[in-house]
Amino acid sequence: MKKKLLALSLALAFTSTSGILHAEGSISAGKEKAAACVSCHGDNGNSMVSTFPKLAQQHSSYLIKQLQAFKTGTRKNPMMSAIAMGLTDEDMVNIAAYYATQEVSANQLPVLDEDDDEKPATAEGEKKADANSTIDTIIAQGSDLYRNGDLTREVSACIACHGPFGEGNKPAAFPLLKSQHADYLIKTLTDFKSGARSNNPDNMMHMIAKKMTDEEIKAVSYRISMMK
Ligand code: HEC
Ligand code: HEC
Repeated sequence: MKKKLLALSLALAFTSTSGILHAEGSISAGKEKAAACVSCHGDNGNSMVSTFPKLAQQHSSYLIKQLQAFKTGTRKNPMMSAIAMGLTDEDMVNIAAYYATQEVSANQLPVLDEDDDEKPATAEGEKKADANSTIDTIIAQGSDLYRNGDLTREVSACIACHGPFGEGNKPAAFPLLKSQHADYLIKTLTDFKSGARSNNPDNMMHMIAKKMTDEEIKAVSYRISMMK
């Protein structure tokens, strides 16, 4: 009984601490600082360029962690490290508080690259009709992988950590994924796979991504980009 109560109070303490942490960041000061981010990450953190990640609605815990990583060099990106160098801990907390309160925008259905629909088609018309069903098929494959993983190859189901709606998990700093740009997702999953992005806790994402084929990375990225 004592143990149960302790667990409960710890859980409550955790929830209220994260509430306080969130309140600690000043949204208005964060918004001001975020003026320097607009050119790449867009108004309110909804970037227009598909290789620049959206930051809107992202958990403050995850945002702070990544900004620290760019600053210390454990996550490498020339553009971001230069920027993070100029931010204090307080700036990071404020900026994260600001982006966490913004709403992520939905994406358009991705357009497949030329080589994606180079399937053997008997007639031109058929090839065109095929392109639509191809994107549906790819998204269905991605959806299956997201929810069920691939047990035979030990690819963990993404849903376990990133949630049924791609909402992530704030206390654990598991990022929100929904409505992120597919191009960025493909790039960053490929970076996890190669080890170029290596600041993830216990190498979790590397262990998962290294077992995924490029096709699976693409499929799950398209799926996630369409989650609302
Ligand atoms: C010159 C363009 C540019 C500017 C300006 C810029 N960023 Fe970035 N940012 C990027 C790129 C590119 C990435 C993706 C890096 C990668 O692929 O690993 C990124 C990634 C990030 C990430 C990681 C997102 C994730 O989902 O993991 C955060 C957080 C971030 N930027 C915050 C900021 C903040 C805060 C500012 C302003 C103070 C800022 N950025 C300004 C280009 C920029
Ligand atoms: C065991 C928990 C766990 C599972 C399962 C998991 N992830 Fe992750 N994922 C994480 C963590 C933790 C991070 C943050 C890594 C960091 O802090 O750098 C992350 C980061 C990511 C990112 C980077 C997001 C960004 O904004 O840059 C993507 C994309 C991603 N995961 C996709 C997936 C996909 C797709 C799957 C399923 C095939 C999956 N994850 C399964 C824990 C998990």
